[in-house]
Amino acid sequence: MTSPSFSSAREVATEFDRWAQAGRGDRMADGHRHATRALIDDLAIATDSVVLDAGCGIGWVLNDLLGSRIASGVGIDLSPDTIAIANDRRTLPHLKFAVADSADTQLEAETFSHVVSIESLYYTPDPQETLAEWLRISRPGGRMGLVIDLYRDNPAASHWVEALSLTVHNLSVPEWRALLESAGWREVEARRVPLPIDTKPKAFTPSPYFPSYELYRGYCEAGSLLLTARKLG
Ligand SMILES: C[S@@+](CC[C@H](N)C(=O)[O-])C[C@H]1O[C@@H](n2cnc3c(N)ncnc32)[C@H](O)[C@@H]1O
Repeated sequence: MTSPSFSSAREVATEFDRWAQAGRGDRMADGHRHATRALIDDLAIATDSVVLDAGCGIGWVLNDLLGSRIASGVGIDLSPDTIAIANDRRTLPHLKFAVADSADTQLEAETFSHVVSIESLYYTPDPQETLAEWLRISRPGGRMGLVIDLYRDNPAASHWVEALSLTVHNLSVPEWRALLESAGWREVEARRVPLPIDTKPKAFTPSPYFPSYELYRGYCEAGSLLLTARKLG
């Protein structure tokens, strides 16, 4: 499903380097925290877990949410500037952050008990290929979990596709489920987590992502899409 005009890895890295320099890493963390906490609960991550965060941005999932609860964790991202922030904030020696491509991680097969990826997979040119790579590096019985805010059933999605300077896959919930299955993942579950509406109408400032308050409210009500799956042993 790769389109010839899809953004290259270099373009993705350059764009998210810019976001990191503009301080948008922390804003993304704030926006994604609610759904990510729900995802972590769904995945039953335990103290012996070995976790990959693919497209980890500034590393907040491992550094702030999971680090003290797991055996070890690796965060990878295409953007060197986000990885630099993740490493600057790293306080636990069993966490590592590196520049790498989710589609070709160069990590050893059957390493991870859990792979998580927050708002990242739709930037990869071929999500099915990337999901197959995550299956390869997962242990038999391992779990995988995604948070996706840009999906076709979310009313804000079409505005985001226009507002972003990168190309993205804007898929429906059934299309995401089918992709996971096609990549070899099993026990695929999808659910939506409504997001807190934390801006009052009078305080709302329109943007290319949310041109109106009604759209913002619809986005929160539609919620984040959580997808979980297992690699069968
Ligand atoms: C919207 S940001 C989300 C970052 C982080 N997961 C968060 O929730 O704050 C998407 C991230 O995915 C990364 N990304 C996109 N495609 C990637 C790929 N093929 N391999 C690794 N990282 C990728 C980007 O560089 C960016 O940091």
